[in-house]
Amino acid sequence: MNGTRKICIITGANKGIGYEAALTLGLMGWEVVLACRSFARGNQAVMALNSIFRQTDPGGKSQGLAVFMELDLASLASIQTFLVGFKKRYQVCDALICNAGVMGGPYGQTVEGFERQAGVNYLGHVALFSHLFPFLKRSPDARVVQVSSRAHERATLTEGEFLQAVHRSKDTYNPWKAYAQSKLFQVLFTLKAQEVYGSDTLRFYAVHPGVVATDLLLSPLPGMAQTIIQPLARLFTWLGVLKTPKKGADAITHLLMASPPLPGGTYWAEKALRDPNPLALSSALQGEVWNLTWNLLNPYGIQAP
Ligand SMILES: NC(=O)c1ccc[n+]([C@@H]2O[C@H](COP(=O)([O-])OP(=O)(O)OC[C@H]3O[C@@H](n4cnc5c(N)ncnc54)[C@H](OP(=O)(O)O)[C@@H]3O)[C@@H](O)[C@H]2O)c1
Repeated sequence: MNGTRKICIITGANKGIGYEAALTLGLMGWEVVLACRSFARGNQAVMALNSIFRQTDPGGKSQGLAVFMELDLASLASIQTFLVGFKKRYQVCDALICNAGVMGGPYGQTVEGFERQAGVNYLGHVALFSHLFPFLKRSPDARVVQVSSRAHERATLTEGEFLQAVHRSKDTYNPWKAYAQSKLFQVLFTLKAQEVYGSDTLRFYAVHPGVVATDLLLSPLPGMAQTIIQPLARLFTWLGVLKTPKKGADAITHLLMASPPLPGGTYWAEKALRDPNPLALSSALQGEVWNLTWNLLNPYGIQAP
């Protein structure tokens, strides 16, 4: 580790928006930890990134660095193992980008039995944040970004529904409702975390990166349909209807680069401050989701920091 580089962890950075965010930060001299579930895909991305960093700064004076560390957000044990590895190499974390995500698709559960989208998109990231809190506190200017989605704006969530959502069974599963709710949980978390932990040296953001041409958009479709629609996605990107992954990443890295820092506890869409779903502003719902989240994680040794 080069002691002068800023350190950023990006989950799900082997492709899509996360990969482009790693590229942007690395080109600015950051050390980016690609926290990915696949050893092969993660290492391939790291090799590609480091090759670009070497070419753009052959002298290596302000060269960025990409590092792979295995992390499966669908397993709380994997998150714990990630921390053990991170601790061996680093003392500080300047930024955490909670980017990895799954959308729609058939019903699934995490290792601990949480509905897959709530577990991966939300609970896994909260567990990761909890482990990393001491490292974020050592940074003079730490920022935590939840990559949410405009889909959260149409999410519904009544009081008392949070536990049903994370424990949803196959019979009551609606893939789009579960996705929108998982993205709402990320925004609720951001606003409450800013209230509880926010300071001049630690800020929390949620962001919609735009509608971006990545595998995620096609992932709910069966394999054959994906092959047919892929050329259309390329056409729509060319026409500007869909954003490139680089543009999506810019919406995230903008929050890390801004100087002076942008106000924390905020929701952004494509670089503009936006009002989130009014449900996200309900302090009753924020408190309920916050408390129940930690109650769910406590049996696995994960506490509110
Ligand atoms: N694309 C859009 O239009 C759009 C719009 C709004 C919000 N977003 C949000 O942007 C974020 C990035 O999405 P993207 O469009 O870049 O999608 P993507 O290209 O499909 O990338 C998703 C990443 O998440 C990783 N991932 C999935 N499950 C994981 C798990 N259990 N543990 C660790 N990593 C896991 C994937 O790893 P594998 O390669 O191993 O599957 C991949 O690296 C997501 O949170 C998404 O909800 C995207």
